[in-house]
Amino acid sequence: MGDRVYIFDTTLRDGEQSPGISLGVREKLEIAEQLQRLGVDIIEAGFPATSQGDFEAVGQIAEKISGSTVCALARAHPQDIDRAWEAVKGAARPRIHTFVSTSDIHLEHQLHKSREEVLQMARESVRRARGYCEDVEFSPMDASRSDPEYLYRVLEAAIEEGAGTLNIPDTVGYAVPDEFGALIRGILENVRGARDVVISVHCHNDLGLAVANSLAACEAGARQVECAINGLGERAGNASLEELVMTLKVRHDRIGLVTGINPVEISRTSRLVSLLTGYPVQPNKAIVGKNAFAHESGIHQDGVLKERTTYEIMDASSVGLIESDIVLGKHSGRHALKEQLERLGYYLNEDELNEAFARFKELADKKGSLSGGDIEAVALEYIRTEGQDWKLTGYEVHSGGHEAPPSATVTLEREGRHVTERAIGDGMVDAACKAIRTALGVDARLISFTVEAITEGLDSLGDVTIQLDIEGRRVVGRGVSTDIVEASARAYINAVNKVLR
Ligand code: KIV
Ligand code: ZN
Repeated sequence: MGDRVYIFDTTLRDGEQSPGISLGVREKLEIAEQLQRLGVDIIEAGFPATSQGDFEAVGQIAEKISGSTVCALARAHPQDIDRAWEAVKGAARPRIHTFVSTSDIHLEHQLHKSREEVLQMARESVRRARGYCEDVEFSPMDASRSDPEYLYRVLEAAIEEGAGTLNIPDTVGYAVPDEFGALIRGILENVRGARDVVISVHCHNDLGLAVANSLAACEAGARQVECAINGLGERAGNASLEELVMTLKVRHDRIGLVTGINPVEISRTSRLVSLLTGYPVQPNKAIVGKNAFAHESGIHQDGVLKERTTYEIMDASSVGLIESDIVLGKHSGRHALKEQLERLGYYLNEDELNEAFARFKELADKKGSLSGGDIEAVALEYIRTEGQDWKLTGYEVHSGGHEAPPSATVTLEREGRHVTERAIGDGMVDAACKAIRTALGVDARLISFTVEAITEGLDSLGDVTIQLDIEGRRVVGRGVSTDIVEASARAYINAVNKVLR
């Protein structure tokens, strides 16, 4: 067993299962390309059987990504496996990941199947997947609450059918580290052939132990960890990629394991995922929170000024947190914008660049100059928008007074069709959102609304995140502008577009 731990990123699959996250194909591609730059070994691109959108996104990621294995998830059903293969077959390195529950709780209450029936499903699904693809991963869902003797039999069957990776999920985040480490040791000792395949783990964070459990598993012999950027995922999320990778790096002296991740890309990946999913990163989040390297107390500041290592166990620049010196002004040209975007890691196509440049000019005229953070926010607007999406082309607001309530008129455009609507509201933002709702004919309920400044200072761009419930579906939208009403309108349209798509 070597000392290399493979990093399997599931931001685009389990991460996308977080409530309110709904990524478009273009957004998923952008994240996949960044994960490749980060050095992720395996990208779980989606669950193709669940929707046409996921099927297409996995297919496009498979076509584009050659530096990482691209994996598609499938239940242990023949149609799911066929669909997963159809989606992922264009990849340079495709993988099918198939799963079935093995705990008695799931068998009795969810699957209504006997242990023998499930064992047969596991066997047949791995066999079917191997008929398509050399690289097959099998997961016994809810493994940490399964009877170990039965779990060993299912895993042995998966190995016999040709699975090269056995992934052990702590699906409900119930395990504690020494117990989970012992489970991995038990598998390595009791399952015939387990030492010839890669043992992987997939830990959920319901008790805040996902990273600790993953580390315990690595110390016990696991050599693949499934994790997600910013710890995204179902409920309390998955093990956070950045925390796991940096623990292995910073405490290599004790743990002795390595990954292929390029840590300098961590900050940018975290920011990109946060901006595109609309999920903010808590300020005190380890590694990527905005306070992760901030020192507030005088004693700490004094220590760090004298010698950084007095209170810092890693350098902010090691995870790519460096002050950006990029500033573009209203006289900067299209070429300068393109160059700076590429420096930040954004590669827009010609049309997107033209539109981004027009918007950049508009903002630079109002604001004078734009920083790296502003430029990134402008680029992301174009990555978030797809060809068939509605766009805001004009708006006018009145703050109201004694005589008249606040009102807004918005004009939206899609594929040459324009719609204009006026509405009144409790305030200008409310009026603009109502006008958009009427123009697009959707029944949307506002769940949450936050405004943040992208950079410091009064002339900062406002970054609005809106969460909507549209006919029972939660979606997050984001928009930026120097004007809060416009940023809100853009965020609202972004959220509605996700549902209309
Ligand atoms: O949590 C889980 O068990 C999963 C499996 C599909 C691996 O996400
Ligand atoms: Zn999961």
